[in-house]
Amino acid sequence: MMIHINVFLLLLLCLITSTHSSPTNSRLSNYESIRALDESGQSIQLQHASQAALQQGNLILAVKHDNSTIHLISIAQPSVLHTITPTTFLTCSGVQADARWLIETLRSMHQHMQLQYGSTGSHWAQRLAALYRAVFWGVSEENTKWQHVRNIKQWGRPLGVSSILIEGTRLYALEPSGVIVSSNRLAIGKHSPEILRQWPGNDDTLADQLKAACHTILPRGTVLSIQQVGTNDSWQLQL
Ligand SMILES: *[C@@H]1O[C@H](CO)[C@@H](O)[C@H](O)[C@H]1NC(C)=O
Ligand SMILES: *[C@@H]1O[C@H](CO)[C@@H](O)[C@H](O)[C@H]1NC(C)=O
Repeated sequence: MMIHINVFLLLLLCLITSTHSSPTNSRLSNYESIRALDESGQSIQLQHASQAALQQGNLILAVKHDNSTIHLISIAQPSVLHTITPTTFLTCSGVQADARWLIETLRSMHQHMQLQYGSTGSHWAQRLAALYRAVFWGVSEENTKWQHVRNIKQWGRPLGVSSILIEGTRLYALEPSGVIVSSNRLAIGKHSPEILRQWPGNDDTLADQLKAACHTILPRGTVLSIQQVGTNDSWQLQL
């Protein structure tokens, strides 16, 4: 509970900061000024949202092996993998209300595509990135190519969640800025950069890799849950 209150306060702070610093000109110049700030790496709101997702979010790791099997790893409980399409899954870390909104919006995009075109759609990481951006910056021209994003209202603050999206056998991670990282090894939430940095090569078993990756970062005795995507198989590993 305390954690959620902290995240909420941080976001509230971002909101207040933005209200005070926003020029009262047209929406367009507002949009451009925030984006310009981001391009030079200076957007305070995005930094706060990223910090909140990083420091307060549950740690979730994803790894794709050479045989294309994908495992998700989290602390104690298996992370909840939300089905977007029959082959697209999303897991989030950070502010739960924002995560719920993302999941519901993506599901409704999928439902719309099914009804309208009889298609499950593709490029879900790009669609997800378009949502992150539309919420913060408003709908831009590049975004309007994605059905549904056109109707998104600008919130005036970034989403306080990081997410991992699995589309088929591809893995993507998204930050509150909407930047997409694609890799066979991803991590979001607390300690994720440090763990990625010391994750060893592929030669060891998954258990040995995880032990090495988490060494000195997570306390000894921490229990990790490992689940295999596309099955109901999950097991636990004690560090
Ligand atoms: C693929 O490789 C991983 C890691 O070595 C292993 O855990 C998993 O069982 C393998 N999957 C299949 C279907 O062989
Ligand atoms: C996993 O479990 C659910 C509910 O128990 C079941 O409906 C589903 O078919 C299972 N999936 C697989 C791949 O076994």
